[in-house]
Amino acid sequence: MILGLETSCDETAAALVTRDGEVRASVVASQAELHARYGGVVPEVASRRHLELVEPVVREALGQADARLEEVEAVAVTRGPGLIGALLVGVSAAKALAWSRRLPLAPVDHLHGHVAALYLRPEPLDPPFLALLATGGHTLLLDVQDRSGYRVVGRTRDDAAGEAFDKGARLLGLGYPGGAALDRLAREGDPEAYRFPVARVPGLDFSFSGLKTALVYTVRELEPDELERRRADLAASYQRAIVRALVERTRAAAEELGAERVAVVGGVAANSELRASLPDATLAPLALCTDNAAMIASAARYVALVPFPDYLGLDAYATAA
Ligand code: KG4
Ligand code: ZN
Repeated sequence: MILGLETSCDETAAALVTRDGEVRASVVASQAELHARYGGVVPEVASRRHLELVEPVVREALGQADARLEEVEAVAVTRGPGLIGALLVGVSAAKALAWSRRLPLAPVDHLHGHVAALYLRPEPLDPPFLALLATGGHTLLLDVQDRSGYRVVGRTRDDAAGEAFDKGARLLGLGYPGGAALDRLAREGDPEAYRFPVARVPGLDFSFSGLKTALVYTVRELEPDELERRRADLAASYQRAIVRALVERTRAAAEELGAERVAVVGGVAANSELRASLPDATLAPLALCTDNAAMIASAARYVALVPFPDYLGLDAYATAA
């Protein structure tokens, strides 16, 4: 069994995954409520909370799997990208756990982890495929030829899709993180009520910052009671623009690469309109779309393990190289 740890942002997560990709336990402690009052993740607060939660979360995962630490053969951990202080808590905990039992350690790239959610049972996906990875921090189109990695073929030039959802949600008074709340509100609104622009960027790249600005101006021009009445229409129209941009670019990439299969991963893959707009795409199960440690343990199966004690000097990284 592989013990996975994930602490790159505001979720403290631990999971136990077998070598053949069965999830024996997956525990996610979200700090969302802790950060909600600030309207976003406060890095230093996140690090401190990870420190408090990491040990109980590992214990809980072991309990859920009815397993003991002695049964763990390798420890996997997210090394980056993410908040550096948050990452360091997970990396330090993983080193300590691995070192205490002379186990090897698998440093995992967070984005590889999101893709590796697709390699878990009961329905593991086999490359090649095109993956749309859309989270709060990243929006990428990935050409996946084998399970050990991916090639980036498109990326956002400014905001990530999840960030666009969160900023829109905030403008509509839905709190943080607001993607899921905006998704719910949008179901009651008319997606054609407002026409928000979808940026046309050359190649297979995305841009979402103009869309957010358009919503700012639209909201600003509405009287408070009018805004209240039109909130669902605004949410539906705004969501439609984001989803349209994601779907258009994903289809274009699939055509350009001749990809026969398309998969969607990352927190935004939970979006109901996106899921409905790509009916043929493979979608990770909802619990594996948002940050979790099962995906990290899954990716660890396809990376080089660092033997004891070579990993003691291993560092985290905040941004992708
Ligand atoms: O993958 P994830 O959990 O964390 C990162 O690595 O960033 O993605 C979180 C993002 C947030 O921006 C959140 O608002 C968005 O995913 N999200 C959604 C939905 N559920 C989560 N966005 C749109 N619709 C949803 N249903
Ligand atoms: Zn993520």
